[in-house]
Amino acid sequence: MFIFYFLFSWSLAGVFGVDSVKSVSVTEGESVSLNLTEIQRDEEMTWKFNNIMIAKTYGKDSKSRFYEGSADGRFRDRLKLDQTGSLIITNTRTTDSGEYTVFNRTSETPFNIFSLAVYAPLSVPVITRDSSQNSSSSSSSSSSSSCSFLCSAVNVSDVTLSWYKGNSLLSSISVSDLSRSLSLHLECLDDFYSCVVNNPIRNQTTHLNNTELCQTCSESYRAG
Ligand SMILES: *[C@@H]1O[C@H](CO)[C@@H](O)[C@H](O)[C@H]1NC(C)=O
Ligand SMILES: *[C@@H]1O[C@H](CO)[C@@H](O)[C@H](O)[C@H]1NC(C)=O
Ligand SMILES: *[C@@H]1O[C@H](CO)[C@@H](O)[C@H](O)[C@H]1NC(C)=O
Ligand SMILES: *[C@@H]1O[C@H](CO)[C@@H](O)[C@H](O)[C@H]1NC(C)=O
Ligand SMILES: *[C@@H]1O[C@H](CO)[C@@H](O)[C@H](O)[C@H]1NC(C)=O
Ligand SMILES: *[C@@H]1O[C@H](CO)[C@@H](O)[C@H](O)[C@H]1NC(C)=O
Repeated sequence: MFIFYFLFSWSLAGVFGVDSVKSVSVTEGESVSLNLTEIQRDEEMTWKFNNIMIAKTYGKDSKSRFYEGSADGRFRDRLKLDQTGSLIITNTRTTDSGEYTVFNRTSETPFNIFSLAVYAPLSVPVITRDSSQNSSSSSSSSSSSSCSFLCSAVNVSDVTLSWYKGNSLLSSISVSDLSRSLSLHLECLDDFYSCVVNNPIRNQTTHLNNTELCQTCSESYRAG
């Protein structure tokens, strides 16, 4: 009985904790407003980033104060507080990712918790011919050897790179290096092939439609 009660209250606390954290995602360079969920009556409020004090409102007319040097000065000139006490971060950077909490004077528990994720912008994926495949496929015809492509993501980290045929996913890798590529080998070209790079909030697509490198399947069929 005791164990049951213990587990029950523990899971209840866990559920409450998850519910009370608001997740917010943006692309680097955008501005984000961490909106308070309720009007606060307390005239003094404190914002913290990963538990470091970064901003405060105080006084009858809600004056704002920013701790420019805190958190290694990363927020210098980029913070604002609106009339409700919501925190606005302008020109976001990936290093702004983290936990934001806001407290009033009367409580040691934050009345709002935000988990901010700032993602690097995605560049368009680049499709090139996979020349390493020229001589490797000895059993295939010469036409199929030219039907090999590489899709590369440049200047990205923590994204997924995928090949699609129409809306069907053919293959996919998670890319954690700065530059990685995924290959596609075809017997002949038909339908619409595309390479997609995506992070949890955005995607970029490049279509494969260069038939000079690769004969279409109808040509291949007629020929063979
Ligand atoms: C905060 O509120 C503003 C104005 O209503 C809205 O445009 C913005 O998307 C909100 N921010 C978040 C993170 O939901
Ligand atoms: C201060 O925050 C606590 C915890 O969220 C809340 O219960 C209390 O009502 C707040 N006080 C005022 C004056 O808003
Ligand atoms: C594959 O073919 C291309 C063009 O025909 C050529 O530029 C490239 O060097 C070849 N690669 C290999 C590994 O033979
Ligand atoms: C990759 O990023 C570096 C540094 O951020 C930049 O100098 C370079 O121009 C970028 N290259 C591309 C292809 O975007
Ligand atoms: C890319 O993003 C658009 C709109 O944001 C969405 O409709 C589409 O399904 C996404 N595509 C992939 C392959 O994730
Ligand atoms: C693919 O087709 C699109 C739209 O028809 C065109 O803008 C693009 O230049 C083509 N790409 C190649 C590599 O042929």
